[in-house]
Amino acid sequence: MGCTPKLHLNMGSMTSGHKSIHQEIENLREQIRHHEHRYYVLDDPEISDPEFDLLMNRLKKLEAQHPELITPDSPSRRVGGKPREGFVQVAHSAPMMSLDNVYTEQELRDFDRKVREAAGNGKVGYVAELKLDGMSMAVVYHRGALQRAITRGNGIVGEDVTENARTIRSLPLSLSPARLTKAHLDGDLEVRGEVLLAKKAFDRLNDQRERAGLPKFANPRNAAAGSIRLLEPSIVAQRQLDYFCYLITTGRPVFTEQAQVLSTLADLGFKVNPHWKRCASIEDVLEFCRSWEDRRETLPYEIDGIVVKVNSLALQAELGSTAKAPRWAVAYKYAARQVVTQVRDVVVSVGRTGALTPVAILEPVALGGVTVGRATLHNEDEIRRLGLKIGDMVVVERGGEVIPKVVRVETDERQGRHLREFDMPLKCPVCGGKVVREEGEAASRCINIDCPARLRESIRHFAGRRAMAIDGLGDVLVDQLVETGLVRSLADLYELREDDLTKLARMGRKSAQNILAEIDQSRKRPLDRLIFALGIRFVGERTAGILAEQFGSMDRLAEAVVEELQTAAEVGPKVAASIYSFFKEPRNRELVERLRRQGLQMKAQEKRVTHRDSRLVGQTFVLTGTLQKYSRDEAKEKIESAGGHVAGLVSKKTNYVVAGSDPGSKLEKARTLGIKILSEEDFDELFHES
Ligand code: IVH
Repeated sequence: MGCTPKLHLNMGSMTSGHKSIHQEIENLREQIRHHEHRYYVLDDPEISDPEFDLLMNRLKKLEAQHPELITPDSPSRRVGGKPREGFVQVAHSAPMMSLDNVYTEQELRDFDRKVREAAGNGKVGYVAELKLDGMSMAVVYHRGALQRAITRGNGIVGEDVTENARTIRSLPLSLSPARLTKAHLDGDLEVRGEVLLAKKAFDRLNDQRERAGLPKFANPRNAAAGSIRLLEPSIVAQRQLDYFCYLITTGRPVFTEQAQVLSTLADLGFKVNPHWKRCASIEDVLEFCRSWEDRRETLPYEIDGIVVKVNSLALQAELGSTAKAPRWAVAYKYAARQVVTQVRDVVVSVGRTGALTPVAILEPVALGGVTVGRATLHNEDEIRRLGLKIGDMVVVERGGEVIPKVVRVETDERQGRHLREFDMPLKCPVCGGKVVREEGEAASRCINIDCPARLRESIRHFAGRRAMAIDGLGDVLVDQLVETGLVRSLADLYELREDDLTKLARMGRKSAQNILAEIDQSRKRPLDRLIFALGIRFVGERTAGILAEQFGSMDRLAEAVVEELQTAAEVGPKVAASIYSFFKEPRNRELVERLRRQGLQMKAQEKRVTHRDSRLVGQTFVLTGTLQKYSRDEAKEKIESAGGHVAGLVSKKTNYVVAGSDPGSKLEKARTLGIKILSEEDFDELFHES
């Protein structure tokens, strides 16, 4: 689908020009809404991503030129909310109840019997739906425009998470009036459904968190619930949440059946899970439940059972609810699949952050359609809690998580078995380096930065934009370097030769030279970046900057004892202990020595005191858009060398926003907060004056 810019057609008359722009904007919005629906709701796109981006960019451009034409329901306005300090509590229009659970077919038949008794023993039809494993949320539309999104909370009062919900691309920001009328819904509309994170998005998120040294989410449900309650909508937008609807809770009884509710929701443009079924009897329902027991593994998101609802809304009303749950619906929960098998051994795997995870090697056994030979034991404490010994018979379960876990030891089965205790190794099983378990932490970690298991990730971090900024060192090349053994330590990067690189697949002489030149350039990076690049746990960019300034050289930092480290601003006992043990590790010392010999910056540069202008000290800047004269890092350095600070997000604490071309939502946020906005010229001026 194309979009024809009509700007030039109406240059003669301002009013008609404006009108046509208005029209083009509306037209673009309609097209974008249509394609978002195809992509995010129906999972059946009609155009390619770049084509979609073209439409969106055109819309954003026109809206930037005509801010008076911006409407809150424009598809360009998904992320625009300010970071919040907390959420406002809102009462639900009607309680958001939960469901009673049943776990066996017999219990489900009992439910059916009770329903039929109450209905006068006639035939009762049901709708069976997947029980999506996320977090429930209500959304309210006023005259077709999304007005509010509220979490379940305690069922009576929830939290207003509208700004976050707007970032969910499968949730329509507006409903077409024509469709509403057709559905006999012209007043306010309240819909209920489930916020979800697909398995793939969940894995991606956890990978990112692991790389950033953040704790991982246990399962997609926790991740979805945590994400919808984040205070910063732009971060929520990155989480790729999804929203499936399953109820309409408007007052007027315009529908007669749940099946009709679901199809109407889909017609209105909401995402409705397609796997629901109208069932003539409880036998049909049971058949549906059985059919999904194994098939559920193939779904892109997790479910934890089947929701069975009486189809007739009149009968639903008649059955009513208890204080906690409706009598017209029930959740049939799948039992977590369990099996008993023997633990042959416990091995330890080393993750990317150096965390040591004990893994049970099992006598292979079939479980939920796959053969299981390993189960995670998480950490030392978990093994102690289970009381597990090598040789034990254990119960293994595959719940929502993909990796099976050991849930309990069958102690009755111990007699006559040869059992062996498992001890967490004191040395890394991969590299032999020292293993440390910090106080208050569950995980033991290998602290040798050269450990091959960690190496890959360490190199990625080292070469990262904010560290040594070696752009050409992408993921594929890093893998090649580690796999071929060309790089066994970060320091090896600086000893690579052209001939080493050209031996690698898809690497010509020219690319090899470019990469070597970039690596060479990175020798000049200042000390704070190098400290950050080393990947010492808990030492982020900011802490690295403070350490470089306070200690002035790598040597002084490496020699500092814990008490001394703690005198640095923002360095507490945990961070200090981490830095101390890093530099105590002989391999890390050796790494630093080699980097020194390779000519990297081991001393902090003298601050250009001349620039220390009292006006810039304590001033916070935020950069947005592209500047002509400076890269983002150069602009940052300029501000910092004059005593200012550069933040990533606009908040009340921001003093200036520097806006280049194609600025993002930060500019708008700055405007609403009344923060001073500097053009590139203004920004330059600032430095000439000082
Ligand atoms: S209907 C009166 N339908 O399960 C409650 N709920 O354990 C009616 N859920 O709070 C809820 N999939 O968050 C309904 N297809 C579905 C569902 C579903 C998941 C969740 C929902 C509810 C919880 C109850």
